[in-house]
Amino acid sequence: MCGIVGYIGENQAAPFLLEGLARLEYRGYDSAGVAVYTDDGIEIAKSKGRLQVLSDQIHGGNDINGFMGIGHTRWATHGEPSDINAHPHASVSGKFAVVHNGIIENYIELKTKLEKHGYTFTSDTDTEVIAHMLEYYYKGDVLDAIIRIINRLEGSYALGILCADCPDRFFAVRKSSPLIVGLGRGENFIASDVAAILKHTRDIYYLEDNEIVELTSDGVKVYNKDKEEVPKEISKITWDIDAAEKGGYEHFMMKEIEEQPTALRNTISPRIKDGRIILDSVSLTKDDIKNIRKIYIVACGSAYHVGVVGKYVIERMCRIPVEVQVASEFRYCDPIVGSKDLVIAISQSGETADTLAALKEAKDHGARILSIVNVEGSAIAKASDDVIYTWAGPEIAVATTKAYSTQLAVIYLMAGYMSEKLGMLTSGEYKRFIDDLERLPDLVAEVLKNKENVQHLASMFYNCHSIFFIGRNLDYAVALEGSLKLKEISYIHSEAYAAGELKHGTISLIEDGTLVIALATGSGLFDKTVSNVKEVKARGAVVIGVSTTENPMTGIADHTITLPETTDVMLPSLTVIPLQLFGYYVASNKGCDIDKPKNLAKSVTVE
Ligand code: F6R
Repeated sequence: MCGIVGYIGENQAAPFLLEGLARLEYRGYDSAGVAVYTDDGIEIAKSKGRLQVLSDQIHGGNDINGFMGIGHTRWATHGEPSDINAHPHASVSGKFAVVHNGIIENYIELKTKLEKHGYTFTSDTDTEVIAHMLEYYYKGDVLDAIIRIINRLEGSYALGILCADCPDRFFAVRKSSPLIVGLGRGENFIASDVAAILKHTRDIYYLEDNEIVELTSDGVKVYNKDKEEVPKEISKITWDIDAAEKGGYEHFMMKEIEEQPTALRNTISPRIKDGRIILDSVSLTKDDIKNIRKIYIVACGSAYHVGVVGKYVIERMCRIPVEVQVASEFRYCDPIVGSKDLVIAISQSGETADTLAALKEAKDHGARILSIVNVEGSAIAKASDDVIYTWAGPEIAVATTKAYSTQLAVIYLMAGYMSEKLGMLTSGEYKRFIDDLERLPDLVAEVLKNKENVQHLASMFYNCHSIFFIGRNLDYAVALEGSLKLKEISYIHSEAYAAGELKHGTISLIEDGTLVIALATGSGLFDKTVSNVKEVKARGAVVIGVSTTENPMTGIADHTITLPETTDVMLPSLTVIPLQLFGYYVASNKGCDIDKPKNLAKSVTVE
């Protein structure tokens, strides 16, 4: 949600900023801008629209000369996407330029005060108050001014700050919004995400809330709010640069779909040793697990859908009650959660505001927090008692695929781990579970080989106005994800229904030609779902049936997708693959901007 990048060094800043922003564009893409320190002072260029519009406007950055600058790509919160509301924002005299990711909750109060002091505002953003406040508090020392403003700002922020009086340094600070510092040779960087600077350095500093950074080309100093220098440890990024590139694919989404076998292997293999699941990063003892009263899973969007699968899997394998809740609901529902409960927070980015807030709410009630996160050092990881990382690598496409799949894998690892500790599985059952878990990446690769079938189906149905996904239990959980994947990138209305629930109202929407995608992979419920398929077909629906080789839907559905067999609880990992592909190919047939769907952005750092 908004991308920030900053550079100081021996090279021209503007082209660097544009390149970095291109790698952050998934965070927001309604406008973009840069501010560069030039011989004539701070020069700002910004424009509504995709980054390419800005790049064309300043000829790839060649129009602006200077060796230090900050850049921003926006997902609008306060004020519509426009040239004026685009960042950077300048203070009245132009002494300060600021880029911001986050939300200043008390900006109206601050704005009113500044207006009383004669400051005028040109944009509708909350960010503009920061630029004016810096000018208001500046008495010759930028650090002092930053400390003054962060004592007054409420909300979340990652800020990059240029001051016209400082030709050889720029500043940054963060609170509850991601920002990292990259350390180069003769050049240094800030960025919302490592993807922006990975080509230039792998050495980074993670910043704590309200740590203030002063960057020159030769060094980086980090201060706390008392202006004391804080010693920092360098972290090494191990992600492969290719992971953040398209590598010949038309879209990141397809690249990431294809990367799923590898991502699954990276997530599963290191955690299975000598036929046992070993979760080094989890400090839950056998007694802790035995004493869990209830598990809550909190997450948003697709990560929530993983939680729905998690509920079925953990309850089935561990017989511990699991409640799964959308994080934005959990945080405000006065949850009955306490020290006997385990809360599992699931998040790819590790920075989703609602999930972080839900986690904090649970923590305040004394619950133990375990998070499943993809981004190392992220806010959710830091706020948890235990973290299990999904080694999916950087996920750039807004619609998640490989993060979802690796989150599922961690759910299986956890369920297997806990059920072994609880003595719920015989040694034979445990061995079979581990064997199937280790086989999962290959099975996903096998399903991916059949993508032409899905591509063909997508070419038949991309003109539909409404598509229903139905399934029971685990299939229902996957139906939720299939439906979201389709609607978010193809803009086709879609709903997911528990197959037996459709007849309680929604079936009235089924008419001649309505497409229903019926998931019937679970062997125990196959016949039940087939009855529901018959109900919708009797009302004119066209059905794509998704099931396994043991129970093919030939002769039952109009079109079929057949998956290989595996342990029931792991079938969601296979079922989701054709649904991801279906969403992708439908969107592709419709000519949609697949990696950057309208109104969306990755990493939702606002409520
Ligand atoms: C959908 C999608 C979103 C995210 C949700 C949570 O394709 O990607 O629904 O799953 O915004 O994001 P994270 O996992 O970063 O907390």
